[in-house]
Amino acid sequence: MKERLASIREKALAQIKESDSLEKLNDIKVAFLGKKGELTEVLKGMKDVSADERPMVGQMVNDTRQAIEAVFEIAKNEMAKKKREFQMKNEVIDVTLPAKKNNVGHRHPNAIALEEVQRIFIGMGYEVVEGPEVEYDYYNFEALNIPANHPAKDEQDTFYISENIVLRTQTSPVQVREMEKGKLPIRMIAPGRVFRADEVDATHSPSFHQVEGLVIDKNITFADLKGTLAEFAKELFGPETKVKFRPHHFPFTEPSAEMDVTCFKCGGKGCRMCKGEGWIEILGCGMVHPRVLEMSKIDPDEYTGFAFGVGLERIALLKYEIDDMRLLYENDVRFLRQF
Ligand code: DAH
Repeated sequence: MKERLASIREKALAQIKESDSLEKLNDIKVAFLGKKGELTEVLKGMKDVSADERPMVGQMVNDTRQAIEAVFEIAKNEMAKKKREFQMKNEVIDVTLPAKKNNVGHRHPNAIALEEVQRIFIGMGYEVVEGPEVEYDYYNFEALNIPANHPAKDEQDTFYISENIVLRTQTSPVQVREMEKGKLPIRMIAPGRVFRADEVDATHSPSFHQVEGLVIDKNITFADLKGTLAEFAKELFGPETKVKFRPHHFPFTEPSAEMDVTCFKCGGKGCRMCKGEGWIEILGCGMVHPRVLEMSKIDPDEYTGFAFGVGLERIALLKYEIDDMRLLYENDVRFLRQF
């Protein structure tokens, strides 16, 4: 019995010493100390041991068990420690490494230009509104004093959805939609996409963007128009910018004008940017035609107003000195990355 216990103990300790994982270690424990383990088997043989030897043999079995358990505990702790050290080494995060860069996109020049225009007009108390891109012929032409046989309609040839529904050629129909709401006074800008049956080239596209402006109140005069748009030009192109109004014709305004700004590149001396002119055309504007007010149920004897329309691409091209409009639509990231 004594020898058997000694051999069990030796075998167990040798196996514990050799084992290289917590799992193996556990298997060894079960094999020796478990319910069907070798040491348990020995205990079962106790019934054959004589009564007076029993306490001594029992003591020996217990000693063996304790000895194996003690070595087992030490080995287990050692192994757990090693495992943890290994993990600590392998899973370490070097906080001094450069961070992974997030690839964020770039704002489109059109978007930057629009935000700039909105910032300026919101600062002057304007509201930003929107209208539909698919529009009734009535709002796009008729209610803007452009009757069916008017030559201005030819200039803005567009895409027809049906006899009386078009892709809007201008943002001006939003003026009518705002006036029809009947809430006065009005101080709004309306940015959005417009469409024309134009061939693509460096300065034309069948789809581009405009920002419409409309102010309606009592006692609004051309002086208000001039002051507002002069301020807009200064904010957009710099405080030195001067403006000039040239008479023009738009069916929905009377009088109408086109506004030029002094070239912000040469300050008006004449350069490549302004084609030697010193001035750059920027927008169309005018006093809202009394007929247009009447059609939208506003009394022209009580209310007057001014309106303007700016090409958004035109502003983006000028501000960022881009010489081909097509670049704005090609989505070449090498181009867009520059803004
Ligand atoms: N809608 C005009 C166009 O597309 C631009 C314009 C001119 C708008 C004068 C206006 C305005 O509101 O008063 O050519």
